[in-house]
Amino acid sequence: MKKFAVIGSPISHSLSPSIHTAFAKILGVDIRYDAIEVKLENFEEQLNHLFSSGYSGLNVTLPLKEKAFYFSTKRSKICSLTKSANTLWQEDGVLFADSTDGKGLMEDLISKGLTAKGSNIVVLGAGGSAKAILPSLLEAKPNEIFILNRTLSKAEEIVEIYINNTTKITAGPLNEKLPFKSDGIINTTSAGLLGQEIVYPENLFSDQAWSYDLNYTDVTTNFNKLAKRNKIYKAYDGMGMLFRQAALSFEIWTDLTPDVDKAIEMLTK
Ligand code: ATR
Repeated sequence: MKKFAVIGSPISHSLSPSIHTAFAKILGVDIRYDAIEVKLENFEEQLNHLFSSGYSGLNVTLPLKEKAFYFSTKRSKICSLTKSANTLWQEDGVLFADSTDGKGLMEDLISKGLTAKGSNIVVLGAGGSAKAILPSLLEAKPNEIFILNRTLSKAEEIVEIYINNTTKITAGPLNEKLPFKSDGIINTTSAGLLGQEIVYPENLFSDQAWSYDLNYTDVTTNFNKLAKRNKIYKAYDGMGMLFRQAALSFEIWTDLTPDVDKAIEMLTK
């Protein structure tokens, strides 16, 4: 039986074991998927230990995603752009890395009928999650992307990387008025999740816009509550992205494509 795990800290509340076990059940294959507490300072030692004790693939979560990138030898194009990885595996002793978060988000947007192509997209936040989704978002060819962050310099650093892209991309502070009518709003900040005040531009929520909060909770997220109060009816949380990035990892490791919708139905019943 193949063994997989998600590593990070804290890890005990991770939903990845349930999601991957559901994928395997639906596909009729036998796998084991664990959640293993690994701290930053133990990363290298634990990584070697896990692969030598028979794990075929690892998902990597906070705070290890950057370290996973730097320790890997062969990286996907997206990984090289984001300088972080959430999926690791070994072939002939070589450590491979990929980052499936961005593709997972884009697949989830498509599954919900939300369009990025040709759209004006606002990204709130410029941390690890924003960096992870940007290459995939740009691949969808939006008209314009405006990245707003509490620490402006972090948004400007991201813009610097992608400035030559065909999509116009600019940076601003969280309360800066949007230069366009937004079609899509993606919240990558942890402000709402942490219960802190959500600062946003006065014209953020426009008619017909959709919003997507990368956070997820058992109930409506604070950001989606705010969006709904501002008459955004298509407001989604990151649960779908979580399943879809997991499915992409599962596929990399096993060459099998999980039925994501069936897994969501199975686990949310
Ligand atoms: P993640 O990997 O989840 O993106 P992160 O790299 O720590 O985590 O980034 C968190 C993001 O949420 C950052 O954009 C952060 O803004 P700063 O770069 O200014 O720190 C944003 N964030 C966190 N708390 C916030 C708050 N109270 N208000 C606004 N933005 C906040």
